Amino acid sequence: MQRTLGTCYYPEHWPEAIWAEDARRMVDAGLTWVRIGEFAWSRLEPTPGDLRFDWLDRAIEVLGQAGLKVVLGTPTATPPRWMADKHPEMFAVDAEGRPRGFGSRRHYCFSHAGYLEESRRIVRLMAERYGRNAHVAAWQTDNEYGCHDTTISYSDAARVAFQDWLRGQFDGDIAALNTAWGNIFWSMEYNRFDQIGLPNLTVTEPNPAHGLAFRRFSSDQVVRYNRAQVDILRAYTSVPIAHNYMGRITDFDHYKVGDDLEIASWDSYPLGFLEDRVGADADHQRAYARQGDPDFQAFHHDLYRAVGKGRWWVMEQQPGPVNWAPYNPAPLPGMVRLWSWEAFAHGAEAVCYFRWRQAPFAQEQMHAGLLRPDSKDAPGMGEAQQVAEELAETPDVQPWAAPVALIFDYDAEWAWATQPHGAGLSYFSLVFEHYKALRRAGLSVDILPPTARNFSDRKLVLAPGLMHLRQDLKAALAASNAQVLHGPRSGARDGHFSIPDPLPPALPGLDVTVSRVQSLRPDMPVPLRGGGAVTGYLEELEGATAAFLETDQGAPVAVQAGHQSYCAGWLDSAGLDRLVHQLCKAAGVPIQTMPAGVRRRCTASEEFWFNHTDRPVECSPGTLPPAGVLRVPRSDRTG
Ligand code: GAL
Repeated sequence: MQRTLGTCYYPEHWPEAIWAEDARRMVDAGLTWVRIGEFAWSRLEPTPGDLRFDWLDRAIEVLGQAGLKVVLGTPTATPPRWMADKHPEMFAVDAEGRPRGFGSRRHYCFSHAGYLEESRRIVRLMAERYGRNAHVAAWQTDNEYGCHDTTISYSDAARVAFQDWLRGQFDGDIAALNTAWGNIFWSMEYNRFDQIGLPNLTVTEPNPAHGLAFRRFSSDQVVRYNRAQVDILRAYTSVPIAHNYMGRITDFDHYKVGDDLEIASWDSYPLGFLEDRVGADADHQRAYARQGDPDFQAFHHDLYRAVGKGRWWVMEQQPGPVNWAPYNPAPLPGMVRLWSWEAFAHGAEAVCYFRWRQAPFAQEQMHAGLLRPDSKDAPGMGEAQQVAEELAETPDVQPWAAPVALIFDYDAEWAWATQPHGAGLSYFSLVFEHYKALRRAGLSVDILPPTARNFSDRKLVLAPGLMHLRQDLKAALAASNAQVLHGPRSGARDGHFSIPDPLPPALPGLDVTVSRVQSLRPDMPVPLRGGGAVTGYLEELEGATAAFLETDQGAPVAVQAGHQSYCAGWLDSAGLDRLVHQLCKAAGVPIQTMPAGVRRRCTASEEFWFNHTDRPVECSPGTLPPAGVLRVPRSDRTG
């Protein structure tokens, strides 16, 4: 498949007289795609019902005539000011009960019926007008669902919709809900569904069953909202529909939104993420301040490849300093190229740079584009052009099913967030730390949803932290030929957040029971015999299954029987390296320890090597300069 580049453009920000020149320069730079429209509602409909599509008609025509393919965004992430007068209750409400205000974006509540109707209306108008436009080659719904903490809303509309959702979940049987949630505890029993409030503003913590149910409901509201847009678009267009997800936004189930779309895409801001959401210590942040974390982007590439069932893009790629992180350094020269090639190596169909020209006004005036505000090339432009030239030479990257897979489950993320049991313990971090250990071992990883049942391509499957481990997944993993890792906390709760009996993990083929659990202060690691430590979380195990990792006091930490293992602790990186090496040995997967900051990704026929450091590094295929990329034929067919 031909891999392509693009950019994000806002014709409504610029005089119409420069659109044609902008389009020509995009084509000259080697760009194929231009995404437009996703925040333009106030110009499409300045007052209710006053529709002004003429400028967008002309913008699409100018861009298309220049040879660009348009990705057209629906503008629903930015309801205009008049919408607030028309629907004063449309705002999302935060956990403190305060409505979000107008003056930025994403201020709507997913449950508000009036706003859903307005969204349907504007999407239908756009679909009718552009659904068959030859220049519109893809659509994007909305913009970054959930960004700025906007999935969960504690509004009246959400409360009523939640009650309905619960009625459906429990077939209208309030006694069944009381039993499933354990509402006899603290006299929390309900007589009717319409008595159930939202799990905020309680005196102390709400029932975790209530909290988890509300998270599941909130996720379903995003799926429903997106589907409402997709259903309309589908009636008018046959081109692919995408959404642009964000990094480490986990409040809704992206797999379920992805089921309704042809393409998953995400917005990659490596330097912003390092400061804002990787969760690394100060030394790591300093070392990678201009490069970004070596694994964070790759993790999301692999995750969104799964969300898109193979079809995915980077819809927004940082091309220079951003504006929104605590500190916003410029990328090391070469990193814009590296980030682009890393995305292609992981299977991206397209990489689009955000944004074409830096805006001289409003919130993002400190955010670089490919052009400066005065329209001269910014430093990122040269690297984008270099990628375009390299793609013209070798456009194809062959997809590959990696023998090593890692399961990521949004429901487990919500369960851990509902009951972390120790400060700072998050499922995302647990999974990401396993991912990093696999990558330090030079392995390529496929991320799988918890609905995966076919593991025939896999030699090793890691499934850490699945608090609600569904029986059919457990059985499919047990029946597979892969080495499988469970734990910690796997199967620790049933579907309604009660402790199951028999006690977890209750894995077929393993005689192991979690008899007690504890969380640990950051300053009380438990050393492992032979190196590494348990940090944060440690379970005590009973049973006859043999341990291959133990505490220095001889308590079992990781046990293995046949092709299944259970790890009872949150391991530090040295412990995780030992765990991964043991599992790979058992699985017959060769590892190749990477130099610090160097990462490898295999495709069907090639190996890509990436140097995320600011100095040259020797590695087996050759010398990698700072921010260097090496593309070589596969040396083996396994890792
Ligand atoms: C993204 C967003 C863009 C822009 C960008 C700035 O999250 O989709 O509209 O705000 O961040 O980095």
